[in-house]
Amino acid sequence: MALASPMVLRAGPVTAQIMPEGDGTTALWGFNGSTPGPELRARVGDMLNVRFENGIGSGSAIHWHGIRIENGMDGVPGLTQPLVEAGAEHDYSFRLPDAGTFWYHSHHRSWEQVERGLYGALIIEEETPPEVNHDITVIVDDWRIERTGELIEDFGNRHDFAHGGRMGTFARIVPTVSTVRKGDRVRLRIINTATARIFPLEITGITGKIVALDGMPLAQPRDLERSVLAPAQRMDVIADVTDTVQFLFPTGQDPYPLGDIAVDGENPTPITAPIAALPQPRISQPAATPDHRLTMRLEGGAMGGRHAGDDIWSLNGVSNLPDAPWQRFARGDTVQITIVNDTAFPHGMHLHGHHFHELEEDGSPGPLRDTTLLMRGQSRDILCVFDNPGKWLLHCHMLGHQASGMKTWLEVA
Ligand code: C2O
Ligand code: CU
Repeated sequence: MALASPMVLRAGPVTAQIMPEGDGTTALWGFNGSTPGPELRARVGDMLNVRFENGIGSGSAIHWHGIRIENGMDGVPGLTQPLVEAGAEHDYSFRLPDAGTFWYHSHHRSWEQVERGLYGALIIEEETPPEVNHDITVIVDDWRIERTGELIEDFGNRHDFAHGGRMGTFARIVPTVSTVRKGDRVRLRIINTATARIFPLEITGITGKIVALDGMPLAQPRDLERSVLAPAQRMDVIADVTDTVQFLFPTGQDPYPLGDIAVDGENPTPITAPIAALPQPRISQPAATPDHRLTMRLEGGAMGGRHAGDDIWSLNGVSNLPDAPWQRFARGDTVQITIVNDTAFPHGMHLHGHHFHELEEDGSPGPLRDTTLLMRGQSRDILCVFDNPGKWLLHCHMLGHQASGMKTWLEVA
């Protein structure tokens, strides 16, 4: 869908075919009659103008995940905008600074609203996109449903919140293209929209490279081996099709099939150019010596021991949003944060309004990300240039963890 003029995203109830064709349907929420919502496509540097109409019968707001956005458009009720009440509407209008794979989702009671289906892909094309035969968005998600397809509506389940989050009973991919030819070059834009599930992914039937993570091009494309996507993380792959493209969730035994893209026919004139790095993002380079070095300790949860917060989870001993920001930075500060996962569960920590480098073992800046996955007991350093003024959330994207303490905010002035 091209996006020159304002478009409407209307949230409301939908009936979705989550289970295979012929099985039961699922009552969910969506945008413009479908979940996932419509894929929004624009060109880097464009303005995105969206009128959000709230037809779900309770308050909501839309967050544009991963966009280095103007603060007032970030879609966080209570921090950057008022709640969009039931039946009300809200206009979003902002420039798109980076080409890449992003997404949008509700940022109010997201542990329920995203789970019910209020999300969609936001694809921002390069000025000169790499040559491929198909540009395919592949959403990966899980749903907690009965065998009949009926949604299990136990969203606020504190037991889930204290553990890994709300895991589905059924998982699959939702690809935008269902058939390709052998020999086609494809770009796969894979987005994990699950509220809690980490997806390890094995993709068969292609040979190629990972070219971007979380919407940010890699300096060097990486080999496509088994990869892992935390909730909210994305991965762009450019690859050549050799066979049916199967998406598998590896388990201890047989892999769980998430779905596939069928092969029909053969491309007589395959693209043979080497798979190259995408145009690099225009983003501030970190200072050689950080202006601040901080530690963020993740604590709480089941089997997590005592901590100083007053909810299930805490960050540096504080649960939920404090009145004053966790930190105030001067615009342009380079900040190194050591994130320590002192809990028994994995967490995908997401920073709004910025991308940061994950630091490699040797301390050099690794890939740019907006969400970093820390397995239980793991620590990681991130390096960020806080060059975007405003009030920004930093939270776990396991949305039940976010709802039960694992969030804070910081201010860039
Ligand atoms: Cu994708 Cu604060 O969210
Ligand atoms: Cu978490």
